Amino acid sequence: MELKYCIVWKQRLIVFLVIAILFILSSCKKDNPAQIETYQPSLPATPYNYSNVILPSAFTSSPMNFFNSISSSNPITDAGATLGRVLFYDRQISRNNKVSCASCHQQEFAFANNTQFSKGLYNELTTRNSMAIINTRFSFRYFWDLRSVTLENQVLEPIKNHVEMDMTLEEVVDRVKLIGYYPKLFQDAFGTTEVTSQRISYALSQFLHSMVSYQSKYDQGVDNNFADYTQLEMDGKDLFFSGSVNCNHCHFTVNFFGNQPAVNGLDATYTDNGLGTLTGDPADDGKFKIPTLRNIEMTAPYTHDGRFATLEEVIEHYNSGIQAHPNLDDRLTVEGQIGGTPKQYNMTTYQKQSLVAFLKTLTDHSFLTDVRFSDPFN
Ligand code: HEC
Ligand code: HEC
Repeated sequence: MELKYCIVWKQRLIVFLVIAILFILSSCKKDNPAQIETYQPSLPATPYNYSNVILPSAFTSSPMNFFNSISSSNPITDAGATLGRVLFYDRQISRNNKVSCASCHQQEFAFANNTQFSKGLYNELTTRNSMAIINTRFSFRYFWDLRSVTLENQVLEPIKNHVEMDMTLEEVVDRVKLIGYYPKLFQDAFGTTEVTSQRISYALSQFLHSMVSYQSKYDQGVDNNFADYTQLEMDGKDLFFSGSVNCNHCHFTVNFFGNQPAVNGLDATYTDNGLGTLTGDPADDGKFKIPTLRNIEMTAPYTHDGRFATLEEVIEHYNSGIQAHPNLDDRLTVEGQIGGTPKQYNMTTYQKQSLVAFLKTLTDHSFLTDVRFSDPFN
């Protein structure tokens, strides 16, 4: 009898110890970056060309040359952008190795993603919709509320953000130093193997600055007088640029973006006040970045809180849903005055469909599949 008891207890003790050891091992794994599965970027022997891409003249002449925000202290080099590409896709720069920039910015969705809010490293949700990363070289300020003034500053923010990657800059530098493939990449990009947060920021920025979308059906149209457009696309284009439905007054230039934030009448009272929350100035309440419409077909859901699932819903907002707001942009009011009476465009079904068809001609398939921007860990 006694012997039997003793054996049962011994077995329980062994089971307990095994569980305890497994638990300790698994928690070690979470904190130790070296424990991640063997994980090597596969890179071309000669770096891809990022630095010397010939853009159509519409992107290099006035007014686009005025919007060029690449600074002379951090020009794009092929080796720098290559390092940036590896960092962008590396999950090891988040605290628990779970999340990379590309978790929320996916190439197939024009570097946005297809969810309203995005899960960060602890499965907590971001409070805003992930933004597409397209033609950032033509922006002076970043994020929906424009809180980052340069891309070099912006790219370090997600690393430090508690929901997104949750690292201090010292920690990310220490971690990158431990990872075998980085010394050569830093050497090639900056001349020495030294890892600093500034070099991380510069390399990420070079990679992002190199992501230019300029090969859509619209761009071909600019070259051949829209010979390949269908009647529906043509009518949508004319409407987009018409004075009456004046989308182009805010989404302007070949980049279809705005350089000043605006209230486009989503709500009478905003729960997220965008720029207003940042500055504390009520005159800024409800103001958000006017995003580029390039590749807009791929970046649903739409707006800063991802409230619209389809382009049809966005168009219907402008058609019949613009809300009165003290800061409503003058371009969306009957009187042409800030805070005036919201316009009602009263478009026909055909007109609405034509606008959607036109917006889809801004999709750039070569951008969405360009190997230079793809995941090197795949
Ligand atoms: C957990 C999801 C998530 C991760 C991870 C993430 N981002 Fe973002 N990103 C977002 C969201 C959400 C926004 C908009 C936030 C806001 O405006 O407050 C954003 C905005 C941006 C923008 C602004 C674009 C513009 O036009 O203003 C850039 C650039 C960007 N992210 C780059 C990066 C880089 C580089 C990394 C990795 C270092 C990264 N992101 C990691 C979700 C993420
Ligand atoms: C007063 C300036 C203004 C005008 C005019 C305007 N927009 Fe916008 N648009 C904005 C702003 C600002 C946002 C972002 C709003 C937000 O998220 O709070 C936006 C967002 C969008 C989005 C969603 C973008 C994304 O990435 O989520 C689409 C699509 C869009 N607009 C299309 C149009 C079309 C089509 C027209 C013409 C019918 C138009 N806009 C007219 C300012 C404007």
